[in-house]
Amino acid sequence: MEKTFYIETFGCQMNAHDSEKVVGTMVQQGYTQVDTVEEAGYVFYNTCSIRDKAEQKVFNRLQHFKRDAGKGKVFAVIGCVAQQEGEKIFERAPHVSLVAGSASYSKLPQMLVQLEAGNKRVTGLSFDAGEAFDTPFTRRDNPHRAYITIIEGCDKACSYCVVPFTRGPERSRTSASVLDEAKRLADSGYTEIQLLGQNVNSYRDPSATGWDFATLLDSVGGVPGIRRVRFTTSHPRDFVRPIIDVIEANENLCNHVHLPVQSGSTRVLTAMRRLYTRDQYMERIAWMKNARRPIAITSDIIVGFPGETEKDFEETLELLEEIKYDSIFSFKYSQRPNTYALELGDHIPEEEKSRRLAIVQERQRAIQLRQNFGLVGDVEEVNVEAQYKLLGQWMGRTSRNRTLTFSHEGDEELIGKYVKVRVTRAGPASLAGESIPGSVN
Ligand code: 5AD
Ligand code: SF4
Repeated sequence: MEKTFYIETFGCQMNAHDSEKVVGTMVQQGYTQVDTVEEAGYVFYNTCSIRDKAEQKVFNRLQHFKRDAGKGKVFAVIGCVAQQEGEKIFERAPHVSLVAGSASYSKLPQMLVQLEAGNKRVTGLSFDAGEAFDTPFTRRDNPHRAYITIIEGCDKACSYCVVPFTRGPERSRTSASVLDEAKRLADSGYTEIQLLGQNVNSYRDPSATGWDFATLLDSVGGVPGIRRVRFTTSHPRDFVRPIIDVIEANENLCNHVHLPVQSGSTRVLTAMRRLYTRDQYMERIAWMKNARRPIAITSDIIVGFPGETEKDFEETLELLEEIKYDSIFSFKYSQRPNTYALELGDHIPEEEKSRRLAIVQERQRAIQLRQNFGLVGDVEEVNVEAQYKLLGQWMGRTSRNRTLTFSHEGDEELIGKYVKVRVTRAGPASLAGESIPGSVN
């Protein structure tokens, strides 16, 4: 068996970061990462099951490479689809040899030993591995911005959502371990940290200090060398006022909050078991709108949830107009296994879901265009992420999490640097500008 592996990642940032940990573990075990399935001894698919479409992607991949399994390749399905489908994956795709959920990755070295010994069916599906998966070997993709998982799993029970089943109950990491990692990252040149959790603000330090999320956030922002801290995803129910207070007080904490609302109708929110009303959500929005530093707000919207009437849908559109999010992700409701909403059926026709989705996206596009035009003339500091050599342009991200393409006089390397940029042009999803001379630091 070739000691090489290939990994493809689907889904959210948690999955992206899990893959960084899996890569680190594999490399530590003596395997080399390669860029194609063809070159690989092991093929990992780190999967997402948030909607049916995401789940289908992995089965399409497996089908596509079916014939390669006979040629000594080992196929591994890990992540959320693995946890959800378990051993059923072996029936659907008999050429798969490893099925493991995210709570079992710490046992990856042992699972590899079993595979190397010729075992054709190895599984890691329990949630009782104890501590959250944390590894000193993590291979981060980006040399300037790093993810740190602070809490795994989710204890909420939103009626549409598969995550509590795929990622298990909440397990927080100790604040000492999070701060150690932040310090190590700062020492090796990272300036931006993104704290991750399915429900990041229900963080509770399991050690004696018992820190809450706001205290941890503030402390990570105080680590010398760290200039920006982001966090995702926040649940409105656990989004408490002290989080705004620390963002207001500490400039290193990015002024961006992703606070998914899902629906503008309290009736639908109740059916979704979201644990807040529209008014309670709006109260949190008011905190952000009235904050001393303007805070960018982004959200997720689901259309076509069972029972969503035209009136409920109108309420979502009104909410978009009222809040004027900086951006949103919007989705058609998709039935998921095990979830409570299964018993509500899925009676809104696909065409109607598509119609509602298109309206949401069109309204939001118009809102963003208006907002973005308002930014022309402003100066924003960006953390530079990429260079578009052919266009002679650079791309960076503002603290409010907007990407800004800009021109720059001079030929120094900017990636990883902070640059002030004057916004000169705006589109619905983009901003462009030019750097302020002498502002690189
Ligand atoms: N159908 C459609 N969208 C979903 N999401 C979660 N579950 C579903 C589902 N069953 C969306 C929510 C969530 C985002 C990550 O995905 O909006 O916030
Ligand atoms: Fe997809 Fe949710 Fe799993 Fe992330 S946690 S990969 S969004 S199912």
